[in-house]
Formats: sequence, C-alpha cells, structure tokens
Amino acid sequence: MKNFFSDRWGNGRFSPGIRLKLLCFLLPLAFVLVFTVSWTGSKITGAALRKDLLQRGAAISKMVALSAGYLMLADDQLGLDRLAAETRASSPDIAYVAIRDAANKVVAHNRIGERGKPFEPSARITPLAEFSDTHADEVIREDRTLVEFNTPIEFAGKLVGTATLALTTESLVGANRSVHRSILTAASIILGLVFLGALLASSLITTRVKRLHEGVLSLGAGKPFRPIPVTSSDELGDLTRKFNRMAEELLSQKDDLEAKARQLEEAYLGMVRVIAASLDARDAYTLGHSTRVAKLSCELGRRLGLAGEALVDLERAAIFHDLGKIQTPDDVLLKKEPLSDTEEVRMRNHPSDGTDILQAAPFLRRYIPVVRAHHEWYNGEGYPDGKKGHEIPFHAQIIALADAFDAMTTDRPYRQALTTEEALEEILRYRGTQFSPELADAFAKMVRELPPMDEATYRSMAL
Ligand SMILES: [Fe+2]
Repeated sequence: MKNFFSDRWGNGRFSPGIRLKLLCFLLPLAFVLVFTVSWTGSKITGAALRKDLLQRGAAISKMVALSAGYLMLADDQLGLDRLAAETRASSPDIAYVAIRDAANKVVAHNRIGERGKPFEPSARITPLAEFSDTHADEVIREDRTLVEFNTPIEFAGKLVGTATLALTTESLVGANRSVHRSILTAASIILGLVFLGALLASSLITTRVKRLHEGVLSLGAGKPFRPIPVTSSDELGDLTRKFNRMAEELLSQKDDLEAKARQLEEAYLGMVRVIAASLDARDAYTLGHSTRVAKLSCELGRRLGLAGEALVDLERAAIFHDLGKIQTPDDVLLKKEPLSDTEEVRMRNHPSDGTDILQAAPFLRRYIPVVRAHHEWYNGEGYPDGKKGHEIPFHAQIIALADAFDAMTTDRPYRQALTTEEALEEILRYRGTQFSPELADAFAKMVRELPPMDEATYRSMAL
C-alpha cells in the first residue's frame, strides 16, 4: 500500500495519477451496481417470502375448513377442539385458529374460553390475496398485525361455517431481515473485492507506465540504459518494446557521435602537437622544448597527487604553452642579440597569441587559462595579466617551473646551458618571487631524485 495515492503536487496544483483516477471511476460504478443488485434482490426475495407465507396460510386454512366440515356434521365438539388446538400447535407463527358456525359464533378455538362467543371482526382489514375460496387479509388484533385467512366450511353446497386462521408477520420480518443481512454482507464483500481488484488492475497498469517513465528519465539523464522488461503483449507491451528499440538506436548513435567527436579531438590535438613541435624546430636551441616541459610537468604533477584527466590536461597545456610563438616573427624569436624594448613586447605577446589560437577550437578552450598564465609570477610581476599567488592556475605554476628549468639547462645563443644544480639554485633563488615556494621546493627535490637530466632520462619519463 506504499504510495497508494502516488499523485503529485506540481506547481502548487494536485495532479492525480492513473491509479487514483481508475479508483475514482471504478468504485462509484461498483457501488451503484452493487446497490442496485442488492435492492432488486431484496425486493424479489421479500416478495417470494410473502407469497410463500400467504400460500402456506391458505393451505392450512383450507385443510382446517375441510376437517371442520366433517366434524361439525358429526357434531364432534371434542374433534373440533382438538383440530383447533393441534393446528395452532403445529407452527409457532400461527396466532390462533377459530372455527365458527354460519351465525358467526365460535364453535372451536385454540383458546377454549372463546368458544360460544361471537367472532369479533377486526377494526382494520386490508385485503392481501385470494386463493379460490380462501381470503387472506391483513388485520390488527390484540395490537398486533396479523395475516388472517378465512375459508368457508361448506357441506353439500351449503355454508355451515368459516375456518379462520391467523399467522404472525414476525417470521416474515425476521426472514426479510436475515435476507437483508446476507445481501449486505455479500455487497460488502463484493465492494471490497472490487476495491482490491481496481487497486490490482491499476497497479498492473501504473507499474508498467512507471517503468517506462523511469526509462525515459534515465535515458534523458544519460545514465546507463537497461532494456525495460516486456511482460505483456498488449498496447503497453508494444510501447515498451518500441521504446527499448528506440533507446538502443539512440544510444548506438550517441556512441558513434562520441567516437567521431573523440576522433576529431584527437585529430585536432595531433595537429596542435605537430604545430608545437614545428615551433620548437624553428629554433635549434629549443628543439624538443615542449615535450621536455610536458614530461617534467607531468612528473611533478604526479608527485603532487594529480592523476587521470587532470594529468592529461596538464600534459596538453604544457605541450601548447608556447603555441602563441607561431605568431612571433623569426627576427625576434631567433635573434641572437638581446631584444629591444619593442621586440621584448612582441615576444611577451605569445601567451595572448596562444589564447587567440586556442579560442578557435571549442575543446581546446579549456587550456586557455593555463597557457595564458605560464609567464605569470608568484609575486604578481609576471605577464600578461599580473596575476599572483593562487590566482595563477595550479597547472600554470607547474609549467612555469618546468619551462624555466628547461630554458636554463639548454644552450641559448647568448649564453651556455647551466648545469642541473645551477638551474635548481636559480629556481630556488626565485622561490616566493617568480615561483610558488612550495612548488619550487617540490620541483628541486624531484629533479635531485631523478637520474642526470640527459636525453635518456627524458626518454624514460612517461607522460
Ligand atoms: Fe613561454
């Protein structure tokens, strides 16, 4: 019975469910049906009981009249008294038996004291039925409603008296009550069964509709879809089968689309990797720079607890970090002498240029904040936005360390490469100014734990 009335309040309005609607329709219908059948049954049974009472009374009255005729002819007073008394005693619902002569004087009565008295007519007589010569009337005697039967006593075609017999109506009322009680019990049981049946029928429907509803919601929410069991071959079963087929087709198309999107993304990424590698190759001094920065960044990221997608994002951002240099002219990028102020400004544009390039492909935009911030300083003196501390994306802070270390440990036109230890000292000198102190310490610790930073070491480092 949980969620019996599984209806909802939506937008402040009550919305009855199928179950409640079915019950509201079936229960009044069943009630009217049961009431009509009970009422009709009660009427028919009442009429049958009444007819039975009248026929029985008429038959007894006739029998008394027939016997009384012979006894009166034989002037057998004792026989008449016995006839009245024994007939009265034969059934508890016989109120009295009286035999009177043609002058309306009582000649025999089940109460001996009535003998010899005139038979008093009833104050109110309502005719009920006639059975050949026997009349049945409703009378009131001794403050009771009785059914009185009068049968003439004839002998050789001559009226010699009348046999009168009265039945009480208590047995009729009692029988009627008993019938009513039985009908009421049966009606209550039928109504109860109808209620349970309606509940069961509505549950059978609502359970299947609910399963379909949940399936639609689950499909819409992108949750793993399991086909809904088809338990019938009716319209709902057909609908469920079609829904399952549609969901499978949708999911298959979704998988295809996702696979194509992944292929497209990989193609774009591959292209950007090629561009980054070509960029490194523009300058013999920076050949392989992006890959080395990516490897160092990922190694530090792993040691700092990054994993899964976060590590993949870090690797890609490290590969793309200098992508903007594609717009830096060769005479600036490859210049062996110190840069002029204008050239310095042009050079410093590469994080912004990188932003513009990544902006073109929607799925590359996620790398923009990191690529843009890889020259920001921890103390806010970096470029292009002057961000500081935790404003600088975590990945950008890692890449900044790897970028600086690789730049210092490779030969440049204007200076020779520093040794690993010299580069680390330089990095530690700038902890708290250019670099995050904690990250600079972690980076130095990592490099000191790694084998000498030669090509073989870089090759052995996984991305
Ligand atoms: Fe850079």
